[in-house]
Amino acid sequence: MDSKLTKKPSATLTVNNKQLELPVYGGTVGPDVIDIRKLYGEGKVFTYDPGFTSTGSCESQITYIDGDEGVLLYRGYPIDQLAEKSSFIEVCHLLLHGELPNQKALHEFERGITYHTMLHSQFDRFFEGFRRDAHPMAIMVGTVGALAAFYHDSTDINDPHQRMVASHRLIAKMPTIAARAFKYSIGQPFVSPRNELDYASNFLRMCFAVPAEDFRVNPVMARAMDVFMILHADHEQNASTSTVRLAGSSGANPFACISSGIACLWGPAHGGANEAALNMLEQIGTVDNIPDFIRRVKDPNDDVRLMGFGHRVYKNYDPRAKAMQKLCHQVLKEVGAEDTPLLRVAMELEKIALNDEYFVQRKLYPNIDFYSGITLRAMGFPTSMFTVLFAVARTVGWIAQWTEMMEDDSQKIGRPRQVYTGAPRRDYVPVGSRR
Ligand code: CMC
Repeated sequence: MDSKLTKKPSATLTVNNKQLELPVYGGTVGPDVIDIRKLYGEGKVFTYDPGFTSTGSCESQITYIDGDEGVLLYRGYPIDQLAEKSSFIEVCHLLLHGELPNQKALHEFERGITYHTMLHSQFDRFFEGFRRDAHPMAIMVGTVGALAAFYHDSTDINDPHQRMVASHRLIAKMPTIAARAFKYSIGQPFVSPRNELDYASNFLRMCFAVPAEDFRVNPVMARAMDVFMILHADHEQNASTSTVRLAGSSGANPFACISSGIACLWGPAHGGANEAALNMLEQIGTVDNIPDFIRRVKDPNDDVRLMGFGHRVYKNYDPRAKAMQKLCHQVLKEVGAEDTPLLRVAMELEKIALNDEYFVQRKLYPNIDFYSGITLRAMGFPTSMFTVLFAVARTVGWIAQWTEMMEDDSQKIGRPRQVYTGAPRRDYVPVGSRR
C-alpha cells in the first residue's frame, strides 16, 4: 500500500522537562493523527489509552466512519447507496480491490469465489466431533482455524498469489461452513453449494433446503440477506478487525487470523449484540413493560443495558441501522408478520429512548443490531445463528484489512505497552518461611 498521509504542522509535547516535536499527519478526511512512534525513545513515557479511544493503529484506505455525522463509506461510497444499489459480491470486490468492478471483472471475480465454495470432504468430520447442542459460533471458531490444515497451498503470507487464493477461499467457504454449523445443530443433512446461484441465495439454500423437497429461494429473502451482508461487510478498526490485524502482525496464516476475529466477534458488546438485543425484546415482551425496563437501564446500581443502542464511534444514528430498519419492515411484510409484539416493542422502545434525557445526553442511538435480530428471526434463523451471519458477512472486511496490512511496509508486530501498578521487585521466600 502506498502511503497517502500528508504532513501537517507538528505538535509540541513537554514531558520530563523535555520539549518533543511530534510529527502530525492528515488523511483524506477525518481527524489528524500525532505520530508518537518515537515518544518512548525520546521522552521515556508511553501513552495510556485503554480501549484505544484516541488511538489510530494504522493507515487504512478501506472504510471511513464519521461517528458524529453518522457517515459510513466503503472506499468512498456511502453505505446507503451501496445497500440500495449494489450487491454483496460487488462490495467484496470493492473492499478487496479498491474499485467497483466493470461487468467483465465482476463476472471473473464471482467465478473466482464460487470456484472455492466446496469444502474438503474430510472437513465434514470436524462437525461430527462437536456436541449436538454446541453453539454454532464455537463451531465457527474451531473449523475456520482448521482450514489452515487443509489448504497448505495458500498459507505462505509472503506470496501475493497465495494471499489472494486464501482470501477467495475464506469468502467462498464461510457460508458453506456456517450453513453446516446450522444444519448440524438442527440434525439435518448438509446441503452442498450450488455455484449457479448468487452468494446470498446459495447461502440461504444451504441453510434451508432439505433433500426430501425442491427448494426455491425467495427473492425478497435473498435480497434481504445480500443487503444484510453489505451492511456488515466492514467497519474499519473495530474490535474483531483489530484482533485480525494483531494476529496477522505476528505472521500468522490468514485462516488462523480470521478465526481469531470470529472469537472476538462473539462477545455481546460486539457481534453478539444482535442476539442479545432480540433476547432483550423477548424478555420485555409487551409495550406495557417498557417503562420498568427503561427505569432499570437508567439505574446506576443495575447493570442492565439497552442492547442494540450506543456505539463507541457513532454519536448519531448508525447509518446501517436506518437501512436495517427498512430491511426489517420489508422482510416482516413478506412473511406477514408486520404487526408482531416484538416489532411493536422495538418501535416503542426506540421512540422512548430517542426522546429520553438519559439516552439523549449520552448520545445513545440505535445501532445496526437493534433491528437485525428481528429481521433474521423473521427469515427463519434461530438467535444462535445471528452472530454467525455477521461473521460470514464480515469475513471480506477482515480479509481486506489483513491484506492491506500485509502490503503496508510500515506495519510491524503489534505489541502495546502498559503502566505497571503491581508489586515492586521483592525476593523469593521459601514456602516454610512465609507467614
Ligand atoms: N444502554 C444504556 N446505557 C448505555 C448503553 C446502553 N446500550 N451504552 C452506553 N451506555 C452508557 C454507559 O452506561 C455510560 O454511562 P455513564 O457515563 O453514566 O457511565 C455511557 O453511556 C458511555 O458508555 P461506555 O460503556 O463508556 O461506551 P463505550 O463506547 O465503551 O461502549 C458499546 C460502546 C457499544 C459497548 C455500548 O454502547 C454498549 O454496550 N451497547 C450495547 C451493546 C451493543 O448494542 N453493541 C453493538 C455495537 S454495534 C455492532 C458492532 O459494531 O459490533
